[in-house]
Amino acid sequence: MNNLENQAVKNTVIPSISITFDLSLYNETKMGKIITLANQKGGVGKTTTAINLAASLVALEYKVLLVDADPQANATSGLGFDVKNIRTGLYDCLVNGENPEKVILTSEELPGLSVLPTNIDLVGAEIEMLEMPNREYILKNILEKVRDNYDFVLIDCSPSLGIIVINALTASDSVLIPVQCEYFALEGLGKLLNSIRLVQNNLNPDLDIEGFVMTMYDKRVKISEQVLDEVRHHFDDMVFNTIIHRNVKLSEAPSYGQSIVEYDISSTGAINYMNLAKELLQRNNMTK
Ligand SMILES: Nc1ncnc2c1ncn2[C@@H]1O[C@H](COP(=O)(O)OP(=O)(O)OP(=O)(O)O)[C@@H](O)[C@H]1O
Ligand SMILES: [Mg+2]
Repeated sequence: MNNLENQAVKNTVIPSISITFDLSLYNETKMGKIITLANQKGGVGKTTTAINLAASLVALEYKVLLVDADPQANATSGLGFDVKNIRTGLYDCLVNGENPEKVILTSEELPGLSVLPTNIDLVGAEIEMLEMPNREYILKNILEKVRDNYDFVLIDCSPSLGIIVINALTASDSVLIPVQCEYFALEGLGKLLNSIRLVQNNLNPDLDIEGFVMTMYDKRVKISEQVLDEVRHHFDDMVFNTIIHRNVKLSEAPSYGQSIVEYDISSTGAINYMNLAKELLQRNNMTK
């Protein structure tokens, strides 16, 4: 239903029972899509993709919440928030029932971008959550309270398959898998896909695979092309056409607390991530 039709539904005087029905449909179309970035292999570009895909979607005028679900807090610091000053973060929401609206921070430079930040306290959550009732659904219940405020909610995960990653997959509509263009790229992907299947079978039957994003591609290195061919051979059109090239600006930007869109909009990294955002929107039939 488009906006005009929504407006028409809201303005029409019809019996209350059908108004209730139509408004529930209206709310449903407003819900932000929740996407987890996961790969239990370390250093493959999860956080770089989370930050810069989020910022690119914001540059395209979508509202985004980035949830930092990794105790390393790289997404929080990479967007310029001082982790030492984060008193309440995701840990407090997960373990102490803190209202996420009280914890979420908004980027000054990119007002459409909000962050549910974390700090090192999150390390403890992995153990404390194991004792909690419905432990796999804690993050889902938190995000249900805020997802309507955003077009997208991206969750940056740690390189593990622990309880917080399982919570992220349970809370999500889809999972986006960054794959580094290097020799051992496919190693461990089977384990990740198996975990995704377990979550689909037991916790979240609606979880889709959004796709695989190839990162740190270097055309001077033969192995990059070989890995790209191999991943495309295995996963076909589940692999995004947009490839993220190795670009030094992408590794510099977080030390300035900026996304690539703010740090250098004309860099290859910014062009790649803007294209990734556009492809994501196209695949979701969401282009404005
Ligand atoms: N396209 C790129 N070009 C150059 N450097 C990159 C690129 N993508 C990521 N990096 C660098 O590679 C390193 C690992 O990236 P990143 O932190 O995004 O990976 P990660 O999967 O989140 O790691 P972890 O598993 O530890 O959370 C970082 O230093 C980052 O700056
Ligand atoms: Mg990371």
